Amino acid sequence: MSNTHQRPGAMVIDLSSLLPFAQGANRFCFQHPDNPDRCLKVIRPESIQARYRKQSPVKRLLGKARLNDNTQELRAHQQTALQHLKQVDSADVLWGHLPQFFGTVETSLGTANESELIRGADGAIAPTLESLIRNEQATPELWNAIHRFEAWLTQTRILTRNLLPHNLVVTDRTGRPELFLVDGLGAPAIPQALALVPGWSPHFIARKLRRFRKRLAWEQNSEGLSWEDFQRLR
Ligand SMILES: Nc1ncnc2c1ncn2[C@@H]1O[C@H](COP(=O)(O)OP(=O)(O)OP(=O)(O)O)[C@@H](O)[C@H]1O
Ligand SMILES: [Mg+2]
Repeated sequence: MSNTHQRPGAMVIDLSSLLPFAQGANRFCFQHPDNPDRCLKVIRPESIQARYRKQSPVKRLLGKARLNDNTQELRAHQQTALQHLKQVDSADVLWGHLPQFFGTVETSLGTANESELIRGADGAIAPTLESLIRNEQATPELWNAIHRFEAWLTQTRILTRNLLPHNLVVTDRTGRPELFLVDGLGAPAIPQALALVPGWSPHFIARKLRRFRKRLAWEQNSEGLSWEDFQRLR
């Protein structure tokens, strides 16, 4: 990946001798070599190529940049609800369930998005909600944390993609479990623009939350159904 947008004199962070602490389908996640509380996410180049191949010829005309999760995440941070929270000085609300975001930096594996690395009270990297639910650790405290996260989304009107339990991590660093959305912020261009229409964001968010509840039910007991069938039949 090229470093053409690098600021003159800016250091390229060398990730070549490090192993990612986690990876998704689209990005590798590294602990920042100079800061254990920061996370660097770089694109897995093959993921963009694979997504591009699956596109219809019309969508291919829109180019590959829109398939880049880091570019999408940067755009997601520009959304109206987040800008509003920054203007009214509600940083604690804003970052209550979202890792702090520090923009882009250049690395030996291409441009990375830099964000807060969420850890637990013991210093270990926070587990995903998916891992806790699948291991039947859905305690009443965890459900309370899920409710607080849902209330935060409803209150702040922050737009998200489909809420998937592997994109939420659970930390107990304040003494009780809290959910953080580490991936899947934002919405496609049209819904993001519609956020300016009164009443539209609450409707969009309520729909995402209903789907999230269904997904949690499926994670706990799929009844032998695929996610697609479960959504259709339940
Ligand atoms: N800020 C963070 N703090 C702690 N863990 C994190 C953080 N960001 C990511 N992770 C871990 O890394 C995993 C992969 O990160 P992420 O979801 O951003 O990758 P992705 O490739 O974009 O995912 P997807 O497959 O959903 O597209 C997460 O599921 C989570 O376990
Ligand atoms: Mg993910």
